[in-house]
Amino acid sequence: MKKTTTKTGIITALLLAVIVLAFTPTMQSCKKNNTTAATQTLYDSLGGTTMVNDPANPGTMIEKGRLGIRSVVDSTIFVIAADTAINGFFTVLLTEVTSGNTSGLTALSKNLTDFFCVATGAQHYTYGGKSMTAAHDPAQNSRMNGKADSHDFDVFVNDLVTGATKCGLSSQLIGQVGRVVNTTRSQVVQQ
Ligand code: HEM
Repeated sequence: MKKTTTKTGIITALLLAVIVLAFTPTMQSCKKNNTTAATQTLYDSLGGTTMVNDPANPGTMIEKGRLGIRSVVDSTIFVIAADTAINGFFTVLLTEVTSGNTSGLTALSKNLTDFFCVATGAQHYTYGGKSMTAAHDPAQNSRMNGKADSHDFDVFVNDLVTGATKCGLSSQLIGQVGRVVNTTRSQVVQQ
């Protein structure tokens, strides 16, 4: 599988970037929360269940923890779309976005956000997407363009760190998120 994009790929990535910029109000809402009491889950440290206005959906409230996670997810999708080391895995998504279809992008953002909410200890959300093994097996997910190896995984994590840093997460919180993400390595890496 070709893991780098051509000129067309870069253009699609930029188009995706424009769309993701629509999430900017959300991204601006990332707030650091350095409270790490032992009794707190990582979700609590990321903002927890305090209800705040959802900048992406005026008139709706959202848990602060979920808002922070969604902001990191959207920021990370933006980083990955521009990263020629791994954006070749996302050709289905990038092609859709190029043609103006953002349904897959919306679904990915929601599923990744749900996944990280649950993985960090949220109580009020569930993850309804594919298992980590199925999601990253091209035979079970036609949106996954090839099997990822350990290096691809490391690149993905680095992009996640970049996305989280852009959102203002502390290095301590990023380290904790990194540990959660690493628990999925053996399921995501399939070659
Ligand atoms: C680091 C840990 C990772 C986690 C926690 C993760 C999580 C997820 C989740 C929750 C989905 C959505 C599944 C669904 O919609 O049912 C997904 C989809 C996907 N992931 Fe990952 N992933 C990880 C790493 C990777 C890596 C390393 C790659 C490739 C380099 C990758 C490529 C993809 C692709 C291509 C999709 C489908 C995107 C689409 O819907 O178009 N993921 N991942």
